[in-house]
Formats: sequence, structure tokens, C-alpha cells
Amino acid sequence: MKQILITVILCATALIALRIAVPKPEAKHSVLEAIHARRSIREYKTTPVEREKLLTVAKAGIAAPNAMNRQAWAVRIVDSKEWIDSCTAAFVESVKGTPLGDHLLTDSFRNMFRNAPAVVFVAAEPSAYAGVDCGILGQNIMLSAYELGLGTCCLGSPVGFMNSEKGTKFLADLNLPEGYQLQFAIAIGYADQSPEAKPRDESKIAFVE
Ligand SMILES: Cc1cc2nc3c(=O)[nH]c(=O)nc-3n(C[C@H](O)[C@H](O)[C@H](O)COP(=O)(O)O)c2cc1C
Repeated sequence: MKQILITVILCATALIALRIAVPKPEAKHSVLEAIHARRSIREYKTTPVEREKLLTVAKAGIAAPNAMNRQAWAVRIVDSKEWIDSCTAAFVESVKGTPLGDHLLTDSFRNMFRNAPAVVFVAAEPSAYAGVDCGILGQNIMLSAYELGLGTCCLGSPVGFMNSEKGTKFLADLNLPEGYQLQFAIAIGYADQSPEAKPRDESKIAFVE
């Protein structure tokens, strides 16, 4: 009887130790799951995004690896509807009647950030590594947003406008460090669509023997 009791206690102790030492298998797979389930979202609910969540994704962004840990980047979060609408009005004025305008100004158009209630701008000091640093930062933002139940869309199209004469005021509002250049924006909000995955060409991957 005593021997059985000791065996049970030993087994229970071993199990507890194992639970502490070995991470849950789900935790191991969550990053991969997020990578494959993320989609570019272009329709959003009008529900505002909690600032705590915006800060969480921004912090995940700057946790990214970056060349020599110089962190020569800047992240600006805008969740003001007034700012987004006013920037959009100036943008619409500048693209009306152009091919870009024809492409973007459809019936579903609500704002230039793919109708998102918030947008994260990513800028960097120009350098050979700026694109890589900011790209990784951006993916960290998008994957962590996915984990928090938010949709995102990386946007290159606002950059041209923000760097143009009509966009000067809006670029200035971002208060970027001297010499920094806007790299891209990330639309962020609660998704109002569930797009299918866009196929990827696996022939782009090859082992080198
Ligand atoms: C650098 C960059 C710029 C992009 N610019 C835009 C854009 O201006 N407008 C847009 O709707 N999507 C933009 N996208 C999103 C891509 O169209 C999208 O990632 C691609 O079609 C693959 O779809 P998925 O993200 O759903 O997998 C951009 C993505 C990247 C990485």
C-alpha cells in the first residue's frame, strides 16, 4: 500500500514538473498559425480600436530585430477620425480623375487607409537597412494585431501623397525626427470581411545542395 502511495506521489510530482518545464504545444504553433491566417483587410467596422491594443502592437513592432540595434525608426499612431477624414479629403482632391483615383474611389471608399479607424505610420532614417528593419517591424505589428483580434493592411499608397505638396501638412503632423522618411502605413481595426488566402508561389523556395 505504502509503495503504491509513493509511486503515485512520484508520478504526480513528475507530471507537475513536466507541465512547468515543457511549453504547451499550442503556444509553439500560434506564430505559424497567425502567419498563415493573416490577410490584408480592406473593410473595417467603425468600432474604435482600444489604445491599449494599439500600444501593444506598436511595442511588438519595435521588439523586431534591427541592424546593430540602432532602432533608427519611428512609429506614429493615428486614431483620430477627424485627422483621418481631413487627410482623406485632401487625398481625394489630389487623385480625383487619375487612374489611382478611379481604382480607389469606389462606392465602398470611406477613407484612404482602406476604411480603417486607425493607422500606424512607420518611418525610418534613410540607410541600407531601413527597408528591412521597418519591414520586420511592420510584420510584428500585423501578427500581434492578428493575435489581438484586429485586422490590418500594409499600405504603400499613402506615402506618395504624404510626400507631395498637398500632403505636407499631414506629414508634418506625424512629427517625425529630422530627415526620417515615411516607409509605409498600416491600416488597423476590427475586420468587416474575411478574405480568402491569396495563393503563394512555392517554386520561389529552393534548397541549395
Ligand atoms: C510594401 C507593401 C505595400 C502595400 N501597399 C498596399 C496598398 O497601397 N493598398 C492595398 O490595398 N494593399 C497594399 N498592400 C497589401 C498587399 O496588396 C497584400 O499584402 C498582398 O496582396 C497579399 O495579400 P495578403 O496580405 O492578404 O496575403 C501592400 C503590401 C506591402 C507589403
